[in-house]
Amino acid sequence: MSNMQLCSTGLLAFLVILPHFCWSQYAAPPGDQIWEVEGEIGLVTTMLQDKGLVDILDESRSRKIIRVGLKNSIDVKFILLQHKLTYKILVKDLASYLKEKDGKTIKTRSITCTDLSCPQPLSDAYMTLDQIEWYLKELNISHSSRVNVTSIGKSIEGRDIWLVHIRPLKCRVDGAVWIEAGIHAREWIAPAVILQLIPKLLEDCSRIGYLDIFIVPMANPDGYLYSWTTNRLWRKNRRINNNTSQVGCDGVDLNRNWDYKFGLFASSNPCSETFHGASGFSEPETKALSDAMIAVSRDYNLLMVMAFHSYGQFILHPWGWSTEEAPDTPMMISRATLWANATKKRYGTVYKVTSTTVGLYAASGATDDWAKAVLQVKYSYTVELRDEGTEGFVLSPNQIVPSSEEVWDGMKILLTAVGPGDYIYL
Ligand code: ARG
Ligand code: ZN
Repeated sequence: MSNMQLCSTGLLAFLVILPHFCWSQYAAPPGDQIWEVEGEIGLVTTMLQDKGLVDILDESRSRKIIRVGLKNSIDVKFILLQHKLTYKILVKDLASYLKEKDGKTIKTRSITCTDLSCPQPLSDAYMTLDQIEWYLKELNISHSSRVNVTSIGKSIEGRDIWLVHIRPLKCRVDGAVWIEAGIHAREWIAPAVILQLIPKLLEDCSRIGYLDIFIVPMANPDGYLYSWTTNRLWRKNRRINNNTSQVGCDGVDLNRNWDYKFGLFASSNPCSETFHGASGFSEPETKALSDAMIAVSRDYNLLMVMAFHSYGQFILHPWGWSTEEAPDTPMMISRATLWANATKKRYGTVYKVTSTTVGLYAASGATDDWAKAVLQVKYSYTVELRDEGTEGFVLSPNQIVPSSEEVWDGMKILLTAVGPGDYIYL
């Protein structure tokens, strides 16, 4: 969809100056609020999410932060009361809060991208979907000797899902690495950081030059666009679930749709934020991603798969469906620890190394578990980027550069340590 379609005519005049930006009226559905639930919560918030009544925004520690829509607030209040739980309203009017916050964001953005040029992934602002696509196309031309950008398939609304293949610099090839970002629409920092890594990877002449690196910077383009135009906190893809016409009941959580232990820890309710979809790989996005990963693992020595998300500052290893240890767990922990230590050095940002089920929550049907179980990659991770909940999904754009720098510090050591030369790292 072009920018023009996204904008009201009143804003058309600004398009000359701000060609790629247009903030919609509807950053959140009217009446949405953010609550903090207190007390012996147990599984109450999970149950509320499964019923499609709330969106759990933060459950990484004892506190539970939830988003509650206007039409559900009475039911939610009632159920919380039944369970003797109290709540505090943190954000009374989410739509205005987001508009104000992202309004500031826009002012800090330098206007470097026009229809004719957009040389680097923007470092001081989140890129629109158009800008991302523009950048990837440009990259394909400007670095044609090493980079190949291809479409691995289309999203449910028919947008391309782009795969960037960075070929090794050196003639000896050690293996391949797969990096995914943007499967959850609202986690804007993930594609932003991964896009920043591309030029860094291309400039690096060291050990990384021995690897084939495959990157999908934007796995859920429809959802990302929707999070810009309509609902900033949209998470799922944009499938229209035709059994319901309620607001928020569309979309499939693509990180519950992978066909391994499908449906075990995920919701069967289309209105839930973690709706797993009709069946494993029912969604064109996960189908395209998994087919491309199968092809890579057939043709290359696939050493590692990493999926980038936000937020919480974790480097998670499988399983997400069981507390049992996945194969290679000691090695996965060892490499994740190298990554976390290197990532901490520059700004002191702490990333916790843990298995998903043990340290976060049980959730099945995600990229990392499928890659570990089906492709049997040795190293499979999900990274939850900055922050720890202060700004959450609506992370200020001045965090893009420091996040990318520290992640790059971690990636340099991790990419060095996962290949056949990994015996040098204990
Ligand atoms: N925040 C991510 C999600 O909810 C974590 C995924 C971790 N991996 C897993 N197999 N559950 O999708
Ligand atoms: Zn996510």
